[in-house]
Amino acid sequence: MSLQETLLTQFQENPLNWFLSGFLIYVIYSYLSPVPYNLPVARHAETTVFREYIPKQLREYDGRTPQTKIYIGICGNVFDVTKGRNFYGPDGPYGNFAGRDASRGLAKNSFDMDVLTPIDQPLDTLEDLTRDEIESLNDWHAHFAGKYQLVGKLVNDSDVL
Ligand code: HEM
Repeated sequence: MSLQETLLTQFQENPLNWFLSGFLIYVIYSYLSPVPYNLPVARHAETTVFREYIPKQLREYDGRTPQTKIYIGICGNVFDVTKGRNFYGPDGPYGNFAGRDASRGLAKNSFDMDVLTPIDQPLDTLEDLTRDEIESLNDWHAHFAGKYQLVGKLVNDSDVL
């Protein structure tokens, strides 16, 4: 009896052989396949490059759409506060700080937009703050540093080459 005839007889006599053959083919294909069978294609985790922002660039990160990230400047540092979207999003209580240098507003505990330096003007030097205001600002900075990722530095337009 030839090999073909033997196999045919085996398959006819025991249908379980069909299942075992299929399983064997699947195992062999899994080992030989260049991309592991059934595994999702690997993707690189999202990365953020630490960089310098001038006020106009920071303004882009104001969370205006659900996909837009939210960055806040405080004491010359830029933090990614996107995970606090409920605070800083367009409808959040602190949305006025989104995409802005929030230093003076946080120092003075003020939501007033007039307190924040317009984005086309040089960065706030904060030199006139009182001792209490500086303390308040430092406390806020420590809060942000402990909770959010530092993503860059806030610099004047003139500092960028
Ligand atoms: C009416 C008085 C205020 C009340 C009742 C209030 C209440 C709150 C509450 C409940 C939180 C959430 C805290 C947490 O879960 O971590 C919060 C966060 C915050 N508050 Fe106020 N707040 C007030 C005034 C202010 C003022 C005047 C400022 C500054 C201008 C301010 C700035 C912030 C900021 C920046 C956060 C979010 C911090 C973060 O991202 O973790 N709040 N506030």
